[in-house]
Formats: sequence, structure tokens, C-alpha cells
Amino acid sequence: MKLIIHGGFFSEWKTNQEVKYAKQEALREIVQLGYRYLQTHNAIETVVYTVALLEDCDLFNAGTGSQIQSDGKIRMSASLMDGKTLQFSGVINIEGVRNPIRVAEKLMSREDKVLSGKGAIEFARYNGFPYYNPETPMRRREYEKRLSDSIRMGTVGCVAMDIYGDLAAATSTGGKGFQIPFRVSDSATAAGNYVNQYAGVSCTGIGEDIVSGAVAPKIVTRVTDGMTIQAATNKTLNELKSFNGCAGVIGIAANGDTFHADTHPYMVWALHDGLVEVFN
Ligand code: GLY
Repeated sequence: MKLIIHGGFFSEWKTNQEVKYAKQEALREIVQLGYRYLQTHNAIETVVYTVALLEDCDLFNAGTGSQIQSDGKIRMSASLMDGKTLQFSGVINIEGVRNPIRVAEKLMSREDKVLSGKGAIEFARYNGFPYYNPETPMRRREYEKRLSDSIRMGTVGCVAMDIYGDLAAATSTGGKGFQIPFRVSDSATAAGNYVNQYAGVSCTGIGEDIVSGAVAPKIVTRVTDGMTIQAATNKTLNELKSFNGCAGVIGIAANGDTFHADTHPYMVWALHDGLVEVFN
């Protein structure tokens, strides 16, 4: 069993020791809870459970504490994919729910698997997800100061391998922050979240770059065709250099290899494969 999670980019990781410590502790606790859950649940159930914990932690840009779009509203996106069935479901620009990943999970059993905007909100309400305001005072202060120029990405994600060797991936985000209303993130597309029976990948970074680079499916396809996950990830991230693309990646391959890499400093992550390891 393996579980790897990320909390997106944290550009002040060298200078802001207090927040660095808080993120390390949060990721350590969540990876431990997720790994414990994985002992009695399969990979797809575990990635949803773990990403919901990350969404509930206001240190990250997903669920509670999501970034605010330029019109003052929070719209969130999340998706999950099952490597065994190859089914993908997601919500794009959903508002007023606590855990977008749980709404995405609800869509897994439906014929229509990805909903956006009003359709996603109506689906959530119809299925019993109550109104919840994910805004935090810190995000409102950032929005009011128009802090759109700094890197404030903190998308969250999880890849799990269960006791049967099956893989699943889930990713959730509040987006780039201060973006044009209804701009679409990579996190609820295959570009940012993809898995099959050979490898699973969750991305963070600038959604436009991740879509341009088709990052997650490219890595997974390369592993499927025989590359190691390390080589596949390095090659794929290297290809982003031609347009200075910004992406961070976590992944697990079917042979048990785990991997994380980023194009810019610094993606925060944690791994549990029997022992816990946290970014430093
Ligand atoms: N990767 C998150 C976003 O760009 O929306």
C-alpha cells in the first residue's frame, strides 16, 4: 500500500518558517489518516477521503480556504479517477459546498460524469450537499489587496495504491486566485488528474501550462509504454521548459515506485509507504 499527497506550491517555503511548519504538520497528519483509511478501503475510496481532509484544511487552496475569483466569488474544481475502471468524474467551478471532491465522487456512478457551474451546484443540492461558505478571512484579505501577482497556488491531490495493487487519483483546487470568473482549472480535467493500471498522477501548478503540456496523461502513457515513473515525469516536466511552464507532480507506478517533482520551487508533499516522509 502506498499513499502520496500534495498541497500545491508554497513559494515562501524558505522564508516563512511558521507556515512551512504548519504545512508539514498538516500533511503529516493527513497522510497518516489517509494511510490508516487505506488499510480498510480501496484506492478510489481512499483518495476521496484524503482529498476531503486536505479540502478541510484552510492552509491549502481547495475547499475551505480556496482562492477567490476576480468577481469576489469562490468557485472550486475537483476530480477523481479510478485506474481499474478508467472512469473519471469531476466538478468545475462549483460554489457553496464544503467538499467538491465528494460531489465529484457522487457523479462517478452517473452517466454524465463532469458537471460545471450552475449544473454542478444544482446536482450537489439535489443530492443533499448543504450550503457551505469556504471563504476564510485570510483569502478575503488577499483578495482585497489584489494579490494576484504572487504565486499562491495550493491545489491539493492524492494518489493511492491499495492492497490489491489498484491505483486511483484525486485532485481539488480553488484555482489560480483572482482569475476571470469561470476560468477552467486543469484539476478537473485529465491533464491534471489521470490514472490507469500502470500509473497514477495528480498535478499542481498553473492550469494552462498543465493543459498545454497534457502533463498527467503523458506521464501515465509513458509509464504504460515502459518508462519508469521517474523518467516519464522528468521528460514530461522538461518539455514544459520551452514555454516556462509551471507544474508539480506526484505519482505512483504499478511496480510500487513513488515520485514527486516540480518545475519551480516548491511543491509541498507527503508520502506514506509504511514510513512517513514529508517535504523539507
Ligand atoms: N492547478 C490549479 C489551477 O491552475 O487552477
